[in-house]
Order: sequence, then structure tokens, then C-alpha cells
Amino acid sequence: MIIAIDGPAGAGKGTTAKLVAAELGFAYVDTGAMYRAVALRAHELGWNARDDAPQIAHLAESAPIRFGAGGAQVWCDGRDYSAIIRTPEVGALASKVATLPEVRHHIVERQRVLGLEAQSEFGGAVLEGRDIQTVVFPDAQLKIFLTATTPARAHRRLQQWEKGGQNGDLEAATRDIVERDERDFNRTTSPLKAAPDAVHVATDDLTPQQVAARIVELARERMS
Ligand code: DC
Repeated sequence: MIIAIDGPAGAGKGTTAKLVAAELGFAYVDTGAMYRAVALRAHELGWNARDDAPQIAHLAESAPIRFGAGGAQVWCDGRDYSAIIRTPEVGALASKVATLPEVRHHIVERQRVLGLEAQSEFGGAVLEGRDIQTVVFPDAQLKIFLTATTPARAHRRLQQWEKGGQNGDLEAATRDIVERDERDFNRTTSPLKAAPDAVHVATDDLTPQQVAARIVELARERMS
């Protein structure tokens, strides 16, 4: 089974997807981490999304990005990228790199391979991102679209920053969310949107455990 979880930044996709994967014994794939890793590597090489699209696309095709068990760790070129890709700066770079169609093409291909490998190894995979249910796995057996209001998402973003030891205040977190939405929803290639057959879940008043329990219930229904 493939479970596709999409939604805007701060909707709770990561936490929820990890809980769902753990409960079902499936693999967890954080697809945003790939865009973040490519964006960071490109930045280190002095490339930017506006001027260096062909080089970044080549990087997306060939960069040795590896995920650790549970999806919590990411390596690129043998270097541990797990913490450094989580900064707000890398998030902003990733959302720019993610607007490039040729970069998306390669990353989507790699995500399909990862998802299918995980499916055969673990019996299922939970992928979270922006275009999983519309582009990467449009035939996924379960499609979930998570939403939450902008203030709720900004609060969560700020908590994530604090947990990661990063500076910031609510105003900066709100700006980050609004800018990210602007790019994710409005880009020409694979904009963020729900599939017609997605189950929509508003997460404002729910804990990640409650959201995960609902998804696990739906998954079990569809598997039986
Ligand atoms: O989920 P995240 O914040 O780690 O994602 C970082 C950026 O990557 C986000 O702004 C949009 C992009 N992204 C995407 O375009 N498609 C995905 N499937 C996942 C992430």
C-alpha cells in the first residue's frame, strides 16, 4: 500500500506520517528532504535557482542522497545533512529549487523508485510532500490532504525552530509560512493541490496522534 500525504508547510505532515508509518510497519519517506538536500548542495556549490537550473537538475539526478532508517537522517555525498537541511534558510532555498520543472522531474523519478522499493520491502510506504497524490503516486490507495489555518501553522513552525535551536519569532514564522504557500500553491509545475479523491483533514484542533489514528483506520479499511 502507498499512502500519500500532502498539504502546506506546517500542516503536520511529517509528524503524522511518521506515526502512521510506525503504526503500520511501513517505510516513511520525507520527500521535502530531497528538495532541501539538493537546494543545500546547490547553495554550497554557489548555484542559485534563477541562473543555474541545468546544473541543479543534474545534481537532482545524480546527487547521492541517502535516507536512514525511519527517514530521520539524510546524507548527501556522504555528509550528514539531517540537521542542517531543517533550517528556515534551507527551507526557503528548497521552495525555490522546487519550482524548477527539470529538477522536479528527476526528484519525482527517484521518489517513485524509493516508494516502490519501500513497498516491496515493508509492505507499504507513507510518503509526505506536496505532489505525492497528484504526480508521484496518483494511483496511491490512500490520499490524505492535511490543512490548518495560517496562525496554527506559524505556531507549529516556531515550535519546530525552537526545538532545533533556531532563532525566530511568530512574525518571522508567519512570514515563512505565507511565502512558502505563495510558491507551493502558485508554481506552474505541480502546484500543491489535493487529488479529487483525497480525504481532507483539518488538523487545527487535533493532536498528531488523533490525525494519525484516523489515517491508520482508513488504511486498515482499504487494506481489508
Ligand atoms: O516539506 P518541506 O518543508 O520539507 O519542503 C521543502 C520545500 O520543498 C517546500 O517548500 C516545497 C518543496 N516540496 C515540493 O515541492 N514537493 C514535495 N513533494 C515536497 C517538498
